[in-house]
Amino acid sequence: MSLVEKIDLQRIPRHIAIIMDGNGRWAKERNLDRSQGHRKGLDVVHEITNDAADLGVECLTLYAFSTENWNRPQAEVDALMALVVYGIERETPGMIENGVRLSVIGDTSRMPIEVQKRLQKCIEDTAGGKRITLNLALSYSARWEIINAAQQLAQKAADGIIKPQDINEETFAAHLTTAHLSDPDLLIRTGGELRISNFLLWQLSYAEFYFTNEYWPDFNKESLCRAIIEYQSRERRFGKTSEQVKTNDKA
Ligand code: FPP
Repeated sequence: MSLVEKIDLQRIPRHIAIIMDGNGRWAKERNLDRSQGHRKGLDVVHEITNDAADLGVECLTLYAFSTENWNRPQAEVDALMALVVYGIERETPGMIENGVRLSVIGDTSRMPIEVQKRLQKCIEDTAGGKRITLNLALSYSARWEIINAAQQLAQKAADGIIKPQDINEETFAAHLTTAHLSDPDLLIRTGGELRISNFLLWQLSYAEFYFTNEYWPDFNKESLCRAIIEYQSRERRFGKTSEQVKTNDKA
């Protein structure tokens, strides 16, 4: 039985978030420049987006560049920005053809204007995509996002548009960058580290976490299947008892 056959297609995680780690170490082990690890990582983004769409995943959020990544050596930051432009240019026609819609979350105003323009153009060109949403977290950090939402709500309260008591989980979530998406069901982190590094702190409240030692450039369809099989073996209780969850499943 192949790994794909072991997956219950009725219980595919709707939204998968991935921390793509290990590009640098993958390159170092091959005596390559770190940028070549990122370049291979981009090819994996292409493959995994299509594999996820084939399995029926509706949204894939990828941590492509964190707020903290601005502190990397300038040459690496420049190489990553150039890679985003190259990736957008290379992938847009295929995305349109395959129903992949691009979405971006993060403080993109910090990115070079040329990168912002290309991203915006790709978002517009792929807006009709119905198969899967590829949501790229760029210049993103969850604390930045949460502060940003708090500031927007405080401003609305100060302007008399809302009352402080109107702020609840729903209104708060509506001011996050992911307001247009469901929360992730599954978080995958490659590269062996066991942390979430300022990624989707609010949205991951009830996600299942899956960590693998594989470096992102080595991640493939089988790796994705293994993560989904593990996800499907777990019972998501959302704070309820096992008995309550089983009764609800039958209803
Ligand atoms: C983490 O590996 C990876 C990144 C910081 C960048 C990931 C970006 C891409 C794969 C390209 C994305 C572009 C598009 C358009 C989708 P690391 O450098 O932290 O690896 P290390 O921990 O081994 O040093």
